[in-house]
Amino acid sequence: MTKRFCILFTAILTGLVFLCVGTLIAGDKQVVPDKVTIENKGYKKDKKRPVPLSHKAHSTDKKYGPVKCADCHHVYKDGKNVWKEGDYVDKCSKCHDPKKNTKEDGVKVMKLQNAYHKNCKNCHKKEKKGPFKKCNDCHVKK
Ligand code: HEC
Ligand code: HEC
Ligand code: HEC
Ligand code: HEC
Repeated sequence: MTKRFCILFTAILTGLVFLCVGTLIAGDKQVVPDKVTIENKGYKKDKKRPVPLSHKAHSTDKKYGPVKCADCHHVYKDGKNVWKEGDYVDKCSKCHDPKKNTKEDGVKVMKLQNAYHKNCKNCHKKEKKGPFKKCNDCHVKK
């Protein structure tokens, strides 16, 4: 009787442990947002308005190209972008400093404002679509 109870008890306990670990792992998954408002702090002068990005449309809607996730997201290893869809996405500001250009393993990492401008504007210019001349097409008025 007590032995059977013991087995049952152990089984339930094991089940609970798996359930907990499962939830923890699932909780690590990031949601891919529909829209992103790009609004960082820490600039020398934060004088321009935040920039809304149609995040999902940029990578799924045909009229945008479509653009690939890795056109905007990267993790460099030996000069190569090793980031792939499903990997964790850090904020751009984790690596690009809002105040100054920095260096990582001898490679220049441009400051945050320039990183955004280069990423967003260069593609718009190349594709001849999307804003790159008029500041307020990105830094929109509310
Ligand atoms: C294609 C979109 C785009 C265009 C066009 C654009 N910007 Fe930006 N800009 C951004 C993004 C995105 C950021 C990052 C905003 C943040 O982090 O809060 C930024 C940041 C900045 C910042 C630093 C943050 C701040 O609020 O002070 C300045 C200054 C700035 N832009 C000025 C300009 C000026 C001037 C123009 C026009 C000549 C311009 N931008 C055009 C997208 C754009
Ligand atoms: C046009 C550029 C661009 C494209 C294309 C793009 N993203 Fe993003 N994504 C961003 C920016 C900008 C942010 C906000 C980063 C920040 O706040 O510093 C972001 C944020 C994220 C986040 C983080 C959300 C959070 O919780 O912080 C995830 C996850 C993500 N993107 C996944 C993807 C995936 C998957 C794709 C392709 C299907 C994709 N992105 C395509 C620019 C892009
Ligand atoms: C994990 C750190 C990290 C994150 C997060 C990151 N970057 Fe970078 N980024 C780098 C490094 C390191 C380089 C320099 C790589 C080189 O030149 O070989 C770089 C280079 C760049 C460049 C210049 C090279 C190119 O591709 O044209 C741009 C533009 C850029 N990043 C924009 C962004 C934007 C926008 C985001 C957020 C959506 C972002 N970065 C997030 C580390 C990061
Ligand atoms: C690799 C190419 C690419 C990159 C990188 C890119 N875009 Fe775009 N974007 C496009 C294209 C193509 C269009 C035009 C879509 C159309 O025809 O309406 C566009 C349109 C836009 C528009 C106007 C339509 C809308 O969606 O509201 C805004 C605003 C915009 N982009 C903001 C940004 C910002 C901010 C970034 C940087 C974080 C960025 N884009 C990065 C390709 C790109």
